[in-house]
Amino acid sequence: MQHFISIADLSAEQWDDLLTLALDLKQELQENGRNAPLLEGKILGMIFQKPSLRTRVSFEVGMLQLGGHAMYISPNEIKMGQRESVADVARVMSRYVSALMARVFDHAHITGLAEYASVPIINGLSDYNHPCQGMADYLTMLENWGSFDGRTLAYIGDGNNVLTSLLNGAIHSGVAVRVATPPGYEPEAAVIDAARQRGVDVALFTDPYEAVSGADAIYTDVWTSMGQEEETAKRLAVFPPFQVNEALVGAANDGAIVLHCLPAHRGEEITDGVADGSHSRLWDQAENRLHAQKAILVRLMAQ
Ligand code: CP
Ligand code: NVA
Repeated sequence: MQHFISIADLSAEQWDDLLTLALDLKQELQENGRNAPLLEGKILGMIFQKPSLRTRVSFEVGMLQLGGHAMYISPNEIKMGQRESVADVARVMSRYVSALMARVFDHAHITGLAEYASVPIINGLSDYNHPCQGMADYLTMLENWGSFDGRTLAYIGDGNNVLTSLLNGAIHSGVAVRVATPPGYEPEAAVIDAARQRGVDVALFTDPYEAVSGADAIYTDVWTSMGQEEETAKRLAVFPPFQVNEALVGAANDGAIVLHCLPAHRGEEITDGVADGSHSRLWDQAENRLHAQKAILVRLMAQ
């Protein structure tokens, strides 16, 4: 059974194929106003333990555009892991749906679903990683650059789930990654070690200006992720020097693009001027969730 849990698990061929298919599906939709119904009769279950705009809507729209159907299960509905075990949710849902997407706190809930389900599992974000976001991010970089060759990505802020998937994507894209975080907020050492062992050029900084030097893309994300809300005040005290603002963008390469997975906390990790400015690719990036995920859905579910 194939799942989509981490970009690091993809083969080089699967990575290339997913990006190519995403671009093809995007072009087909733009040219014809519709996609071929490759997932006719298929049903995607979507279990959410956290809120979502992009993930929920893009998966649902993607399934509809491919001729299938998506079912949203809200955080309070099934209470996976409390009302019922992850294994039993996996066993039961497998009898109803063609594939299951889940957004969870504990990454073990994703791997647990994959262990016990007899349908493909798609990771729609865990505390550990966010692979669907990572595919959309690299799709956006590829569209802007034409090729990943020789490119550098600077990530500024919290060493979180989104950064994990960017580092995993660098294994396949070959993009160099320069990371600036406050001390104590670095990405997990195991994630960096795994990326380096697979050839990724990763450099860690505590000065955001050093990190963006030579960068072709600047990426940031919220300082307080979902589930960390009780740390908000503590984080607000240390993260302000890591704001992506006009001065920081000016220290990157000319024509550098700015990326953010969204939702943004404008005035914290990113200014209005940058989010709405000429370097921003935020809305293309959000749109690309749709196209990247449709490629994943087709490869996991089409006969
Ligand atoms: N980027 C992202 O995953 O957005 P949502 O939390 O709104 O799904
Ligand atoms: N790091 C953020 C990403 C949201 C899409 C979070 O986990 O809340």
